[in-house]
Amino acid sequence: MKVMEKVLEIKNLRTYFTLMEGTVKAVDGVSFEVRKGEILGLVGESGCGKSVTAQSILRILPENGRIVSGEILLHNENGVIDLAKLELDSEEMRQIRGKEISMIFQEPMASFSPVYTVGAQMMEAILLHEDVSKAEARRRVIEMLKKVKIPNAEKVVDMYPFELSGGMLQRCMIAMAMSLNPKVLIADEPTTALDVTIQAQILYLMKELQKEYRSSIVLITHDMGVIAQMADRVAVMYLGIIAESGDVYEIFKNPLHPYTRALLKSIPKLGVRKTRLEAIKGVVPDPYNFPSGCRYHPRCDHFMKGLCDVKEPVDVEVAPGHTVKCFLYGGERS
Ligand SMILES: Nc1ncnc2c1ncn2[C@@H]1O[C@H](COP(=O)(O)OP(=O)(O)OP(=O)(O)O)[C@@H](O)[C@H]1O
Ligand code: SF4
Ligand SMILES: [Mg+2]
Repeated sequence: MKVMEKVLEIKNLRTYFTLMEGTVKAVDGVSFEVRKGEILGLVGESGCGKSVTAQSILRILPENGRIVSGEILLHNENGVIDLAKLELDSEEMRQIRGKEISMIFQEPMASFSPVYTVGAQMMEAILLHEDVSKAEARRRVIEMLKKVKIPNAEKVVDMYPFELSGGMLQRCMIAMAMSLNPKVLIADEPTTALDVTIQAQILYLMKELQKEYRSSIVLITHDMGVIAQMADRVAVMYLGIIAESGDVYEIFKNPLHPYTRALLKSIPKLGVRKTRLEAIKGVVPDPYNFPSGCRYHPRCDHFMKGLCDVKEPVDVEVAPGHTVKCFLYGGERS
């Protein structure tokens, strides 16, 4: 089996928030790698630490958050850089943000300032990182807008964000993120705010661009349906840890962690109208006090008393590249 080149490696990352009420261990020992030209899906319920993982990688955490330990290794022509060790506002980190790793957010309005035209903001990103003339930057912006299938790109370039629909704005954000041809694109719920038809179009577009540019994408979502449609590999996150990871076919064919199985059950079936996804049993625990042992144990149908509530399961590799943290598959069980 050909092992693909790694572009980003997250090793045992811990990111905590300090609040009056206590410490929130939002990311609590996360490891995964992103390979060249692949889409890695990071999936899990609300609050499990997906966005904080992304913010840690780009070093754009809110002020009360900090990386406590771990490594974020970016592989590039100059070797390997540990982003966790760079100063937040260092020139090196600024160069990496946008140029080597860029991000698309759920809410495009959050990425565009309302007071400048879309084109001006996209040009600024190019001018910041590359030594090109304004005319060349504008030409590139229009070319990118056409690539993301914006009709009338020559006009849209001079429009303000409020003049565009949510779907159009999301296309502009993808164009902006891709305009510097980054190694890694982190897309945090890029289509959640859009209606289903637009969502499908945007996902399709992202996949097309990813193939053309051979970029790697970390696609963050709570929706296993999106993962099935888009991802090559998947990492299932639960309360700050990766519960299971592997090739997308393997995970769908042979999901092992009880949490992954529950997530898969929550995919809406084609043709069955549901206003809400089937919720997974139990509530997500209080973020200040994670359950002892396996943190999924209060919600798990396979809970083994005296083991699951006492010891924390570690990764077991059940097949090449398929790992799971659960005592049902080894570890401490005897
Ligand atoms: N600035 C902050 N201060 C304190 N806690 C925070 C902060 N930002 C995030 N958290 C906490 O960190 C945990 C992980 O949050 P995160 O936003 O990464 O979840 P998520 O998986 O992205 O969820 P969603 O699907 O809702 O976007 C949550 O418990 C959240 O409340
Ligand atoms: S370790 Fe135990 S509680 Fe945790 S998922 Fe596996 S069976 Fe369930
Ligand atoms: Mg989030």
